[in-house]
Amino acid sequence: MGESVMLEENKNKDSLPEVVLAPLRGVTTVDYRNTFCRHFSGVDSALAPFIPTVTGKVIKPKLLSDILPEKNKAMPVVPQIIGKEPADIIVLAKTIYDLGYKEVNWNLGCPWKFVAKKMRGSGLLPHPDKVDAILDQVLSEFPGKFSVKVRLGLKTEHDLKELIPVLNRHDLSEVIIHPRTAVQMYDGVVDIDMFSECFEMLTHKVVYNGDITSVEFYQTLQERFPAIDKWMIGRGVIINPFLAAEIKGATSLAPAEYAAAVHLFHDDMLSCTEERLSGPGHVLGCMKELWKYMALSFDESNKKLSHILRAKTMNEYGRRVDEFFQFYEVDKVN
Ligand SMILES: Cc1cc2nc3c(=O)[nH]c(=O)nc-3n(C[C@H](O)[C@H](O)[C@H](O)COP(=O)(O)O)c2cc1C
Repeated sequence: MGESVMLEENKNKDSLPEVVLAPLRGVTTVDYRNTFCRHFSGVDSALAPFIPTVTGKVIKPKLLSDILPEKNKAMPVVPQIIGKEPADIIVLAKTIYDLGYKEVNWNLGCPWKFVAKKMRGSGLLPHPDKVDAILDQVLSEFPGKFSVKVRLGLKTEHDLKELIPVLNRHDLSEVIIHPRTAVQMYDGVVDIDMFSECFEMLTHKVVYNGDITSVEFYQTLQERFPAIDKWMIGRGVIINPFLAAEIKGATSLAPAEYAAAVHLFHDDMLSCTEERLSGPGHVLGCMKELWKYMALSFDESNKKLSHILRAKTMNEYGRRVDEFFQFYEVDKVN
């Protein structure tokens, strides 16, 4: 287990970096975001996982269920959309605006082949003219703030540099950069030098996103890019939910206390998931997805984690989870 932390917030809030929870579809759901806020701190806002555009003027309520304002009171949320038809983007963005959200983010980074092949997400990165035309149309009709989340490129890390003059021409509230190509998916290293080049070229506010899993890496980035004051973190926070607070100066918790805190969070998350989803299969699927990240902050977790991931019934799952946490909450105290 890495250094865990006590939530002893730094007093001088003005000097603190802004930390945004990254969208992870299927993980950082409204349940996750709300439960996170009940147990941890340090995250200032969240970008919600993407909502796909649909053809036509009617958006089915189910598509918006994750961003319903009455369920999203715990932390400020910016909804994200993915699509390529300007008319469809406008309908979805305006529907979201009418719910009360003043900002919408456009996903230009999703690396999944079936998405990119349809020229959505990262599939648009090598097409500056197309992006230019979409932004022209969308921004002439959308009344709110509009931001984009991008990667360095689809197959090459040079796409974004070609796209930046287009992004600079439009009125965007910010550009979030994950410095990988789409073909890299989430593997390999982030390309900080290329991020630096893009950061220099962009006239918009830039948010850094990618591989911040420790305070040390955050500090390295912060020293290299002192002008950046907003950082987006996904897996790092899901692995260690104290990371955002740690970045803001919180101090360490003992390993057993860390485990106890994550245990409480887990149980709360499980109740919410059981309430929202019907059928143990769905609940187990959702919780197991979370475990793939959460377990990584615990040493020697592989065997116990594989027991959890193999659980077929809720009873077995509950037993395996208890065993997992008991190992850390009891054995490590002695
Ligand atoms: C399972 C999964 C789902 C994701 N879903 C989205 C999404 O809906 N929208 C988006 O912009 N990025 C999505 N991402 C990318 C993350 O937001 C983020 O850019 C990426 O994980 C790198 O940041 P990190 O290293 O801090 O996790 C997803 C990533 C993963 C692993």
